[in-house]
Order: sequence, then structure tokens, then C-alpha cells
Amino acid sequence: MALDSLFAHIERLQGDRPWGRVLDAGTGSHSLAWIAGLTTESSTAVTGELGRARGLEREFSSRLRPRDRIVVGNWTDPLLLHCEVFDVVLADYLLGAVDGFAPYFQDRLFTRLRPHVGGRLYVVGLEPYPDSTDSPAGRIVLEIARLVNACILLAGHRMFREYPLEWVLRSLDASGYVVEDAKSFPIVRGMKFVEEQLDVCQRKLPHIEPSLSRELARTMAKLRDRALTQCGVERGLRFGEDYVVAARSVGDASLVRFPVLKLSGSGP
Ligand SMILES: C[S@@+](CC[C@H](N)C(=O)[O-])C[C@H]1O[C@@H](n2cnc3c(N)ncnc32)[C@H](O)[C@@H]1O
Repeated sequence: MALDSLFAHIERLQGDRPWGRVLDAGTGSHSLAWIAGLTTESSTAVTGELGRARGLEREFSSRLRPRDRIVVGNWTDPLLLHCEVFDVVLADYLLGAVDGFAPYFQDRLFTRLRPHVGGRLYVVGLEPYPDSTDSPAGRIVLEIARLVNACILLAGHRMFREYPLEWVLRSLDASGYVVEDAKSFPIVRGMKFVEEQLDVCQRKLPHIEPSLSRELARTMAKLRDRALTQCGVERGLRFGEDYVVAARSVGDASLVRFPVLKLSGSGP
């Protein structure tokens, strides 16, 4: 039984095809919980963060079998999972997170994953928010997104950078895939989303100059109250879209090469 409508959609797309060996190319609690509930031969979950890997190992200690594993690595590493092919590869909100781990690598991501895609690649992503909206719920979501991004930047860290469905379709096409299905899903955010986003801000505050940090904490508290009220008005914050794309790799992916470039110094 799928945990949410996006995973339910992927299950419908997969139909009777066995899941076989599954790769969660950008793992987290949500995607790993879903995969752990599927009938798979094995699962491999990749994250760029050692701390997240250790947390997931603890959280899933009773659900991971000896043939399942959590791997810490970076997709910029040409040797990560070298020569390993999976029946299903899931890129669940991976693209939007790449900027924090491998800035400017987004246009290479699907090419990098291609040698590992034996059957299907499923991409889940968030359509980037517009700059403005007339919807009251949307205005709250945008305010939260701006506050989160401001806190991340003020803390000296890197933000997420989401890509639109159109960009993903173009990139898959240019990276040697055939897209078999693409669908968008309207999002209804609950208070859990608001709390999670404001928690991101909270974790950044110790890295920010104290007087600014105190002011940001006050802004967060006011925004939390307004979001709570707005959630009650519309039974959730209805704004934005997620998308799911199913694609398969075409041609000989073993020919994909990732040379280690030797850069010369700048200037004459
Ligand atoms: C937003 S989280 C994905 C959400 C996750 N699927 C869930 O269920 O919560 C992004 C994941 O992709 C990983 N990631 C991002 N860029 C990466 C890269 N270049 N190489 C390896 N992992 C990366 C992050 O470490 C993290 O585990």
C-alpha cells in the first residue's frame, strides 16, 4: 500500500512488472519507507550525507534485510555503484537537492544515472514556485519558502534548486531516455509541512548573527500562526505541483563516460 499519491501513481505505472533490484538514488525516510514496503529482490539507497545514512540505518534497522544497503556517495564520483544495474531507479526529489551536493551537476544527473537503469527510471520533483500569486494559501507558502531560503543563505549554506517538468523532459531526452509517462499533481500542504520548513529555519539560526537571528525567530513565530489559521480556512494550503516522470534508457548506456577533467590554472 503506497504511502502517498505520488508513490501510488508509480505503483500503477509499474503495474505487474516485478520491482527486482531497486535503487533509491537520493534517499530519505519517506522514499525508503515506501521501498521497504515493496516486494523487491534488494534495495540500494544512496545519500550524499553520512549523518542521514546513519539515521536511516537506525530508523530502518528492523526493516532492512542483509541484501539491502545504504550507501554514502556522490553522483559526481564516476565509480559510485560502478557496473551495478537496477530494475528500477527512483530519483525522488533528488534533482532539487543536487545543488547542495554537486552544484551545476544537474544537467549531468540523468546521464550519470543511465548506466544503472536496467528497466525504469522514476523521477519525482517539485515544480518551482512562481514569484508571486493571488492565492492567500500560495502567498503563505511563498513567504515560508523565502524565509527558508533566506535563513539557508544567511547561514552560509546552499539552497535547494527545483527544476520544472519541462526541463526534466528535455534533460531526459538529451540524456538517452524515452519518456513513457509524465503527470503533475496539485499539492495540499498541511501543518506538518509548515513545521518541517520552519524547523529548517530554526536549525540555521545558530549560524546567523544574533540580532538578525532573534528577529528571524520572531518572524518565524508570526508566520507559523498565520499558516495555522490559513490551513484551517482551506483545510490545508493548496498551492504548487509535484510531478512524476517514468522513463527508460535507450541505446548502449555502457558507452557513457565520465572523464576526470584536468583543469589548467587561470591566466596565461
Ligand atoms: C531531498 S532528499 C530526498 C528525499 C527523500 N527521497 C525522502 O524520502 O525524504 C535528497 C537526497 O539526495 C541526496 N543527494 C543530493 N545530491 C546528491 C549527490 N550529488 N550525490 C548523492 N546524493 C545526493 C541527499 O543526500 C539526500 O539523501
